[in-house]
Formats: sequence, structure tokens, C-alpha cells
Amino acid sequence: MAASQSSRVAVVTGAASGLGWSIARRLAGDGFAVVLVDRNPAVQDKAAELAQGGAAASPVVADLADRESVSSLAAGILRTHGRCDVLVNNAGTHFKTPEGQRFRFDQVGLREWDLSIALHMTAPMLLCQAFLPGMKERGWGRVVNIASRAARTYIQQSSAFYTASKSGMVGLTRAIAGEFAPFGITCNSVAPGRIRTPLTDISSEDVKRFSLNELPVGRLGEPDEVAAAVSFLAGDQAGFITGAVIDVNGGGFMAS
Ligand SMILES: NC(=O)c1ccc[n+]([C@@H]2O[C@H](COP(=O)([O-])OP(=O)(O)OC[C@H]3O[C@@H](n4cnc5c(N)ncnc54)[C@H](O)[C@@H]3O)[C@@H](O)[C@H]2O)c1
Repeated sequence: MAASQSSRVAVVTGAASGLGWSIARRLAGDGFAVVLVDRNPAVQDKAAELAQGGAAASPVVADLADRESVSSLAAGILRTHGRCDVLVNNAGTHFKTPEGQRFRFDQVGLREWDLSIALHMTAPMLLCQAFLPGMKERGWGRVVNIASRAARTYIQQSSAFYTASKSGMVGLTRAIAGEFAPFGITCNSVAPGRIRTPLTDISSEDVKRFSLNELPVGRLGEPDEVAAAVSFLAGDQAGFITGAVIDVNGGGFMAS
């Protein structure tokens, strides 16, 4: 028998900013107890803000690019909360050159490559390994991986390490979805297009041109629009959706 929503725990990574903060706020509003994880200590203020509003929310400061800190973070969450029912692997970044540009393929170094794999693939995999056994025991669980439109189609502005690691995240989604489908656990990806967050350079001419002229909706997406998709996938109503990729991209595929 599944727990009631109010006793379910949701873990959201990268929750100090942008999409992660919107997702944490939305899941708290849905009635989950939310653990907000980020390497940025500002995540403590974000959790306090939710708690002041009456939500059960707590912060964890951890660097998800570091394997040992991911493992101790997961163990700490299980010690403190006893469970994780919804895992949202959202923390991510797109490293830029010192000039603020994408890395051409011949410029890609192992540092950016390894960090991207660590953050977008290894940390989600380790967190799943830590939390899926409990979900399986309880017969209910949700994993949502925040991938990218770059995992779905060629994006010229995306560096190879970002495209490759976000595509790996979609593969990981399928592997987990298949293996855990018989146990009441779903695993899906959400693939955002350009969303207005600190990661998006909204002042750049390229972004303005793209969003106004090339996207059917004629604007950038808002973080709450991604959070709404995650909220849907995290609920009981989405139990028949697994291994899917939900594209939140303003009709971007129709434009390309
Ligand atoms: N904004 C977009 O247009 C867009 C589009 C496609 C995909 N995404 C993906 O959505 C996710 C969220 O992006 P965002 O736009 O909200 O960016 P953001 O920069 O606003 O937020 C990312 C958060 O992740 C945290 N983070 C980064 N590296 C970390 C690490 N090593 N350990 C712990 N925390 C770390 C940051 O501190 C930050 O709080 C990312 O995975 C990104 O790739 C964003």
C-alpha cells in the first residue's frame, strides 16, 4: 500500500536556483516533504523559505560531481528521513569557454567531459542505486531526470560533453524504467528547451533571435512550466507513463 502524499519524501537536486527551485516549490505545494540539494549554500535559505510557508523542507549542501559526497548525501537522507519516494535529478550545468561560448569539439577537454558525466550521469545513477531499493520495497516510486532538448536533436550551441551526458541521462532513464516497471516505480525524463533561468543568457542576441523568431510560441519557457511537468510525473496519476521523454520546448521540434 502506497503512503499518503503527505508522508512521501521528494529529493530535488540543484534546488538552489532556476528549475530545481521551481520544482522543489511545486512539489512542496503538492504535499511532499522536500529535501533540497545543492552545492550552493543558498539552498539553505530556499529550504527555510518553504518551511516558513508551512512545508516540510530541509536543505543539504553537497557537490554532486564528487562521488563520495553523493554517496554520503544519500546515506544521510536515508538516515534522517528514512526514505525517498520521488527523486528529481536536476542539478546540471553547461560549461562555457572563458569567452562565454560553447566548446567546439576540438576544444573539449577531459575536465569538462568528466565533470559533465559525473554530474549528469554518475550522480543520478548513484542516487538511484541508493533510493530505488526502498521504493521497490514500498511498491511505489518516481524518478524524473531533467535532460535537455540537446539530448533529443542536434543543437549547434551545445558542447559535445553536454549533448553526450544529457543523452546518457535519457538512456539511464530507459534502463531504470524497464527494470523497475514491475515494482510500481516509474522513471521518466523531462527535456526542457530554452527556459528563463540563470543558466540561460537571456541578454544574448542568439537567445533573443532563437526564442522570438524560431520558436513557435515566440518566447522562452518559464521554470514553473517545467515544474508542472515534473509534478504530473511525480503523482499517482502518472503510473502508466514510464521510460518516456516529455519535451517542454515551446514547439521547438516543429521549428527544426
Ligand atoms: N534553463 C534551460 O534553458 C535548460 C534547458 C535544458 C536543460 N536544462 C537543465 O535543467 C537543469 C537546471 O538548469 P537551470 O537552468 O535551472 O540552471 P541553474 O544554473 O539556474 O541551476 C542549476 C543548479 O544546479 C546546481 N549545481 C550545479 N553543479 C552542481 C554540483 N556539482 N553539485 C550540486 N549542485 C550543482 C547549481 O548550484 C544550481 O543551483 C540542468 O540540468 C540543465 O542542464 C536547463
